[in-house]
Amino acid sequence: MHPLLSLGVFWLLPLALTLGEDSPLDCIPRRTVLYNRDNAHLFHEEGVFNYSTMLLREDLGLLMLGAREAVYALDLNNVSKKLASVKWEVTDKQKTDCKNKGKDLETECKNYIRTLHKMDDNRMYVCGTNAFDPECDYMSYVDGILTLEKKIEDGKGKCPFDPFQRYASIVVDDSLYSATSMNFLGSEPVLMRNSDTSIRTEFKSSWLNEPNFVSMAQMPESEKSYQGDDDKVYLFFSETAVECDCYNKLVVSRVARVCKGDVGGLRTLQKKWTSFLKARMDCPVLESQLPYIIQDSYRWCDLQQPWKDCLFFAIFTPQSDTSGLSAVCVYRVSDISRVFAEGKYKSPVTVETSFVKWVMYSGEVPVPRPGACIDNAARKEGIKVSLDLPDRTLQFIKDKPLMDHVIQPIGEKPLLVRKGATFTCIIVNQAQAADGNKYHVMFVGTEEGTILKAVNYDGEMFIIEEVQLFKPPEPIKILKFSNVTGQLYAGSDYGAVQIPLATCGRSLSCMDCVLARDPYCGWDKVAGKCVALSDAQSELIQSVKDGNATLCPGADPVKPVNQIIWPGGNLKLHCPSPSNLANIMWQQDDRSLSFSPLILHQPDGLLILNASYSNAGRYRCVSVERSKVAEYTTTIAEYQVNVDPDAGKDGHRFGPQPQRGGPSVAGLQAVVGLLVVSILALLAWNFYKGHLPLPWECRNKNREQSQQSHEQGDLNATVTKGPALAEDKPLVSGADNGSRNNNHTDGEVGFSAAEGENAPEVSLPSLQFIDDESEI
Ligand SMILES: *[C@@H]1O[C@H](CO)[C@@H](O)[C@H](O)[C@H]1NC(C)=O
Ligand SMILES: *[C@@H]1O[C@H](CO)[C@@H](O)[C@H](O)[C@H]1NC(C)=O
Ligand SMILES: *[C@@H]1O[C@H](CO)[C@@H](O)[C@H](O)[C@H]1NC(C)=O
Ligand SMILES: *[C@@H]1O[C@H](CO)[C@@H](O)[C@H](O)[C@H]1NC(C)=O
Ligand SMILES: *[C@@H]1O[C@H](CO)[C@@H](O)[C@H](O)[C@H]1NC(C)=O
Repeated sequence: MHPLLSLGVFWLLPLALTLGEDSPLDCIPRRTVLYNRDNAHLFHEEGVFNYSTMLLREDLGLLMLGAREAVYALDLNNVSKKLASVKWEVTDKQKTDCKNKGKDLETECKNYIRTLHKMDDNRMYVCGTNAFDPECDYMSYVDGILTLEKKIEDGKGKCPFDPFQRYASIVVDDSLYSATSMNFLGSEPVLMRNSDTSIRTEFKSSWLNEPNFVSMAQMPESEKSYQGDDDKVYLFFSETAVECDCYNKLVVSRVARVCKGDVGGLRTLQKKWTSFLKARMDCPVLESQLPYIIQDSYRWCDLQQPWKDCLFFAIFTPQSDTSGLSAVCVYRVSDISRVFAEGKYKSPVTVETSFVKWVMYSGEVPVPRPGACIDNAARKEGIKVSLDLPDRTLQFIKDKPLMDHVIQPIGEKPLLVRKGATFTCIIVNQAQAADGNKYHVMFVGTEEGTILKAVNYDGEMFIIEEVQLFKPPEPIKILKFSNVTGQLYAGSDYGAVQIPLATCGRSLSCMDCVLARDPYCGWDKVAGKCVALSDAQSELIQSVKDGNATLCPGADPVKPVNQIIWPGGNLKLHCPSPSNLANIMWQQDDRSLSFSPLILHQPDGLLILNASYSNAGRYRCVSVERSKVAEYTTTIAEYQVNVDPDAGKDGHRFGPQPQRGGPSVAGLQAVVGLLVVSILALLAWNFYKGHLPLPWECRNKNREQSQQSHEQGDLNATVTKGPALAEDKPLVSGADNGSRNNNHTDGEVGFSAAEGENAPEVSLPSLQFIDDESEI
């Protein structure tokens, strides 16, 4: 080995390797799919924005899409196909009124469609913000025509006034349940049922305190209930905590629920819920002291199983720190239900004349239990409807709607945590893999217009891919799934798209197909393609839990590409990595290639600068990817590089991108310096992030182990069985050889360490709850 090359091994190779390794918090997607028109069918209409309300009409083969001042009926099989549409614009008078109230004419004084529901008579109920004066109407789709019936109803309490305010709604038994603000100022939040006997929440901060409504879901809890229980409607939201014993405002996540049969009380709680109970939901991310805030939830039920086995998948984001982490926590409906049915209540206690503390209530609880639905036991006592409930029970629930118990996610930790684009919404689908097991596949929308596809394999988080759906990046505002078409639908301010659950064809080799660990995809040996399990003609190769590609047939040898370069010239050898989890290695004449300031390893290939005769040879680019059971090496590209002193002279351009003549010494040094600095900055950042502790596992962990074999230059073997021993490498080994670039190294690493020490410590008021009245 050249002395120069061995030098490179000592200090640049560890750098390059560490670069490839990610801090465990960065559960990076295995594959990143950049924006491409073919990623999805897109629907967008010129001049129309805010496609954020969706209703699946599988019975009609339609996707109903609510946007600003318009509703569309799109073909469920191809959303690019608009079948019908109807405009719903605000009148000039409404516009003027809205403007006179101080609202913005171009944004707020428009009609944003916010509510779209199917009613029992097949019509649809649609509401819009209507220039801060919400209205609702019935809409029908007959003979390919979409019509608003112009039977305008007041939308107060059904739909927000403010288009930027969060809201939630659901239709159960033909009644609309809505969670929104009832007035122009947005200061009267309610959860209400709109029917002949409309009922709503109290205007009390102990009921709803500056809430942000997130989502609603119904649970058929009367099904086979031997207590004669009622169905429930659940509401997820966040609000300012009343129970927090702290100086600053603290926001917490909540789940509340009401009984479907609730008609309010007779005197106390007249036309108000008698069954409104709420509890705090926790999603513990790292040691964050401030609770994470719920942003979306998805009810997942197995239709063959009883409701108790349903799950709620919820997205959480931090409330104030800048960690950039988002999380998914999953809750059992039965856990939530049990807290409401059996848990202790919290009670306000006045201390020192005016200050109120919320503590666990340990006194006597009236019968029937406050907040409980009317059940067989109550009926036996002659209480047939909520109107019959005794005042004692009603007064109790009016004062104490908050449960003492905090609802914890399954496993008491998140299912997925990721640093990067903030999560916005979630959908979950169950896939049966070739191993016969069923897995929950999470599709998570982000602020940057991408969708992450992730599975938690026995506690190990694995992000199969991240696909860019919108360009420029637009936050994903809504996600829906149709089990009839098997497609996902996503909406953003710019448009709506439709994507399949899996695009197996993105994997071109068996190795890539198996290591992708996508439960929907497997390798068809006969067809030589990565195909969907549902389309399989024969038995497929798949190994979602382990990523065991042993059964994959050997790949065809790669044909070398000839490249010619002249002394002093530059050459780029391309090598796109199939996986973010793979390490790319280069060999020159079957020996491991060492990088140096003149041979640079870039994410998409190798850059040779100021070529000399020693650069001639056969180059091979291999990807080394470690799965749970083995390390797999695949040759991606091969190049035969020849050095020809005459090549540059005749003005010919050879190869894909060889540049004519070398740049000036100063220019070259600047380029090299810049590259090294940016690599080091990245490295420093990596280490900085690496300081954070991690309570769960991520696939990337295994990458440390795969590095060991890289220096051995033994890349001919396709499979290295068993985990190689990981050896602790110094941060920058052999970095003290005094070159200019090394000074940079020291500077950068020193800086990052300092940054680590000064990392913002979360020392804001922690949630201090007093557990018992006796503690006061
Ligand atoms: C509607 O879309 C426009 C254009 O992208 C965006 O600027 C605006 O914030 C959106 N309005 C709402 C209420 O989301
Ligand atoms: C979807 O509809 C669009 C617009 O009508 C059409 O151009 C496109 O070919 C359709 N795609 C498929 C796969 O049918
Ligand atoms: C789709 O889901 C609905 C309930 O959401 C269910 O009634 C229906 O049977 C499902 N259809 C298919 C094809 O799985
Ligand atoms: C990988 O799969 C092969 C073939 O199914 C099997 O023989 C081998 O034991 C598996 N390896 C591991 C580590 O599970
Ligand atoms: C390029 O290489 C030649 C010979 O190896 C050397 O004389 C020259 O200084 C090098 N140029 C740069 C910019 O490093």
